[in-house]
Amino acid sequence: MPAISFQSVSKTYATARGEFKALSDVSLDIEPGEFFGLLGPNGAGKTTLISILAGLVRASSGRVVVNGHDVQADYAQARRQLGVVPQELVFDPFFTVREALRIQSGYFGVKNNEAWIDELLESLGLADKAKANMRQLSGGMKRRVLVAQSLVHRPPVIVLDEPTAGVDVELRQTLWQFIARLNRQGHTVLLTTHYLEEAEALCGRIAMLKSGRIVALERTSELLRAASSNVLRFKTEGHRLPPELAAKARVTGRIVQLPAHDAHEIESYLAAIRQAGLNVEDVEIRKADLEDVFLDVMAEKKKEVVAP
Ligand SMILES: Nc1ncnc2c1ncn2[C@@H]1O[C@H](COP(=O)(O)OP(=O)(O)OP(=O)(O)O)[C@@H](O)[C@H]1O
Ligand SMILES: [Mg+2]
Repeated sequence: MPAISFQSVSKTYATARGEFKALSDVSLDIEPGEFFGLLGPNGAGKTTLISILAGLVRASSGRVVVNGHDVQADYAQARRQLGVVPQELVFDPFFTVREALRIQSGYFGVKNNEAWIDELLESLGLADKAKANMRQLSGGMKRRVLVAQSLVHRPPVIVLDEPTAGVDVELRQTLWQFIARLNRQGHTVLLTTHYLEEAEALCGRIAMLKSGRIVALERTSELLRAASSNVLRFKTEGHRLPPELAAKARVTGRIVQLPAHDAHEIESYLAAIRQAGLNVEDVEIRKADLEDVFLDVMAEKKKEVVAP
């Protein structure tokens, strides 16, 4: 039995400008114990899918089942299986951190939870903030509390919607160590993030969403294997790139990156650079990573939409 089963899930929002289809026929099974990544650009439908899973938004059609419990027909049981960290920072400003966690335990009917609450506070670097009022916390600290809140009832399935947005480097590492430990202990994890190096390091399998449709669903290692094998990277004045390179390049400030399948392609790039008389610095060849795969997948589908 899958830990999470999305079955032909579609969602149409009614907006002022008419109907908007945020999800189209999304089907996906996540097995118990998986560390699964759901990736996609802004507006792809990730939060919508998670909100349907959490019972916060109703699917227009299809169904979602968590450890055998339908999220609509059997909401209370399905919800108990899930620990959801929402993308939006929502909190009650009147409680302290510890009170917020106690209230959440009470909501799930968990009694005598102090030892686990202490462990959560400790593991998420919140021990010295236990008595602080929620409104006295910084944004990153509030997000840590949301993570702790989602875990008070030790849910078998952990769902994290951009848990590391606005979180500093040190806590990102602590958080991932903690979540990875829970995953090793058997918890299923579903994660969305725009930090693709995090997804590459953590997720065994990845789905990519684009405009509400799944456009890739694969083991992370397979996605990386299928990618163009290398990337030529250098620094230059990007606007002076010859057009044949500019068409293929990813330019970030002065950094130019060109996907290359073999040594010939790299040679031809270097020749074009020399011919254009470009000044280049810090030339290196690196292996393609998940970000390259992601951009490839998204670009491919764009072409398909334009010329079906
Ligand atoms: N309540 C709503 N009413 C109308 N449209 C909505 C509503 N909620 C979301 N949408 C639209 O649905 C699409 C998907 O939004 P969603 O929040 O699921 O994207 P996302 O993949 O989570 O993006 P991000 O990476 O920015 O968090 C967007 O175009 C969004 O504008
Ligand atoms: Mg979102």
